Amino acid sequence: MSITVSAPGKLMLLGEHAVVYGYPSLVTAVDQRLYVTIDKAQGMNDIIETPQVKNTSFVSETLSYFRNKYHKNDALSILTRCDFSPKLGFGSSSAVTVALLKALNLLYELNLTNDEIFHCGYEIVLKVQGTGSGFDIAAATFGKTVYYVRGGKTLEMINVPSLPLVVGYSGVKADTATLVRQVEKARDYNPEHIDSIFRAIEKLVISGRDALRNNDYKSFGSLMTENHSLLKRLNVSTPVLDNMVDGAVKAGAWGAKLSGAGGGDCMIALVSDTTRPAVEDAIRLTGGEIVTVTPNVSGVMIERT
Ligand code: MEV
Repeated sequence: MSITVSAPGKLMLLGEHAVVYGYPSLVTAVDQRLYVTIDKAQGMNDIIETPQVKNTSFVSETLSYFRNKYHKNDALSILTRCDFSPKLGFGSSSAVTVALLKALNLLYELNLTNDEIFHCGYEIVLKVQGTGSGFDIAAATFGKTVYYVRGGKTLEMINVPSLPLVVGYSGVKADTATLVRQVEKARDYNPEHIDSIFRAIEKLVISGRDALRNNDYKSFGSLMTENHSLLKRLNVSTPVLDNMVDGAVKAGAWGAKLSGAGGGDCMIALVSDTTRPAVEDAIRLTGGEIVTVTPNVSGVMIERT
């Protein structure tokens, strides 16, 4: 009997890069999901078809991690499908890791909690990438909007009734590992400078958490724009992302910023119903592609057993 589990993609609202160094961040799960269907396979070999997953090491590492830890060695059939393209940076690697762990948990009736799934998922990320805060694993596991500190040291769900975002894709695929390494090098070279930027980011993440709790979109928006300026000072933005962000703010968004590692992928803008059309037009005018998402959705879930 096959089992299907889904996990959501994610968007970083505030705090990227600084979160790798133990500072807090705010992340939201989006309604574009990745689905994993598993079953025991007929023959001796695994049948793995995961074409939407950019880095298939996440699938192989999750399987070997699970098999080593729980001594379950049946050949498996694993298939994925996905609502979003891996080019967007919504986190297909973290979503497949979490969805596969949850599906294996159900197949073998292990009763793992979501906390356990999160910690296994984060270990797998560190094995494959060697670095990372795990915020994407947290979003895929717990969903909603989370105030997050690396490794799940703090994992606080923020109760937001809605989060009216416009998402613009820059047309460029970013490489997170390269950008994380670039910031690391800059920090090795001038720690005081980079740490002062991280501390400024920390401050606005904490203010952002309060603004979200109070549904104060105006304040949250200006914190987003401030965060974008700090990311520019970290040298992770690009002229295309800057133009999209400037265009969105000029068109009346409460605020806008790049979301994720930078270097490409997506930017986000916070908008009212009234400003949404103008902001979307402004982003299109700068060459961006609008990606329709609903933020603040459920984490990993069983679709079919
Ligand atoms: C990438 O989407 C966000 C970074 O902060 C990396 C991470 O948190 O793992 C740059």
